[in-house]
Amino acid sequence: MKEEFQQKIEQSETRIFKAVFPSDTNHYHTMFGGMAMQLMDEVAFIAATRFTRKVVVTVSSDRIDFKMPIPAGSIIELIARVVKIGRTSLDVKVDIFVENMYAEERHKAISGTFTFVALDENKKPCSIL
Ligand SMILES: CC(C)(COP(=O)(O)OP(=O)(O)OC[C@H]1O[C@@H](n2cnc3c(N)ncnc32)[C@H](O)[C@@H]1OP(=O)(O)O)[C@@H](O)C(=O)NCCC(=O)NCCS
Repeated sequence: MKEEFQQKIEQSETRIFKAVFPSDTNHYHTMFGGMAMQLMDEVAFIAATRFTRKVVVTVSSDRIDFKMPIPAGSIIELIARVVKIGRTSLDVKVDIFVENMYAEERHKAISGTFTFVALDENKKPCSIL
């Protein structure tokens, strides 16, 4: 990644915290995967928007790894960071860390990468820079 982008990447890194309540969970009392993916797309979208300051849409998500379950009653932190810059597209990696509410315990639970495309006023791909 070129050095000129490093500052923009740092500035656009986006973090969201959320308490995982029973209404966020599945039949197994762990966070529902679809809800995790929605939050990941949202925080990645915010990072992509803050990096480009243009209209962006999600075009793809390569792969999402669910490494650890997230129990109800946890705190999660999502961290989104631009990891690849193309001409009209950019990739944003999202990690979700899970924390125990009542202990100093933190693990990476989910990771995934989302690709966004910048669109012009005619809804056509345009340069992200
Ligand atoms: C985004 C959209 C306008 C792109 O149209 P397109 O004809 O595929 O555009 P292009 O082929 O010119 O590709 C544009 C860029 O996207 C990238 N791209 C396109 N499809 C991709 C895919 N499946 N995965 C990763 N990158 C992709 C291309 O590599 C290119 O990147 P670059 O300019 O950095 O090299 C179109 O696919 C679209 O409208 N999709 C729906 C988006 C949407 O509604 N998202 C919300 C989710 S419901």
